[in-house]
Amino acid sequence: MHPMLNIAIRASRVAGKVIVRAFEQVDKVEVQSKGTNDFVTNVDISAEEAIIETIRKSYPDHTIICEESGILQGKDDDYQWIIDPLDGTTNFVKGIPHFAVSIALKVKGKLDQAVVYDPIRGELFTASRGKGAQLNNFKLRVKPLKELNSTVLATGFPFKCKQHTDAYLNIFKSLFTKTADMRRSGSAALDLAYVAAGRVDGFFEIGLKPWDTAAGELLVIEAGGLVTDFTGGHNHTASGNIVAAGPRLAKEILKDIRPHLGEALSK
Ligand code: IPD
Ligand code: CA
Ligand code: CA
Repeated sequence: MHPMLNIAIRASRVAGKVIVRAFEQVDKVEVQSKGTNDFVTNVDISAEEAIIETIRKSYPDHTIICEESGILQGKDDDYQWIIDPLDGTTNFVKGIPHFAVSIALKVKGKLDQAVVYDPIRGELFTASRGKGAQLNNFKLRVKPLKELNSTVLATGFPFKCKQHTDAYLNIFKSLFTKTADMRRSGSAALDLAYVAAGRVDGFFEIGLKPWDTAAGELLVIEAGGLVTDFTGGHNHTASGNIVAAGPRLAKEILKDIRPHLGEALSK
């Protein structure tokens, strides 16, 4: 195993322990609002600190980009860790056991290592560039589907950017009428991991952040899938608008998205 993946796994397990311990007494968790419908807890912060400490012990010079602490510039900017310590905070504070730790490493701007860890189910999704994706050491493959008919797609509602509600609902309607069903799980990192695992057939969401998607993106790519923005291009990290699925199905999803793109979503 790549030594940096090993450290990412170690960091995700340390954070997972912090999260699970706090989840057992979730009523005592301190919740604060950091933006519209955007919450942070003392657990997000403690889990992030545990991850940073673990990475820093082995790689003190690397840059670390995290959801809660921002950019921690290192001397060696070729290596950038991208961290969401708790993806699915709303689920966590409501007592819904569906959330994950997401850790990715970019080397010279390219995704290189990825971990999405679901500490409740003990599911560890990992990927290394060019080496495939695994769930608890079993190889993952995206489902090679061609049509929307009979598929189940995961999605997220634009609850942090409600100005996109109409565009989102138009896209949803267009896709929903063709698919078997939709899922809204509340963790984009797990949605992408589930695409990689073939548990859902595709995923789309508006307005995500780099830490929501970095690790999940490498999982999907290494499992044979395609990740794009809403125009079929590769601006999804900057725009936050993302589609992930097997290559042919992703193109079908994009056909339903395109007619509903106003200027704001056309990137
Ligand atoms: C959120 C989750 C959710 C998605 C949101 C994200 P957070 O991350 O991934 O599924 O719909 O857009 O912000 O805030 O729980 O880390
Ligand atoms: Ca997140
Ligand atoms: Ca988070």
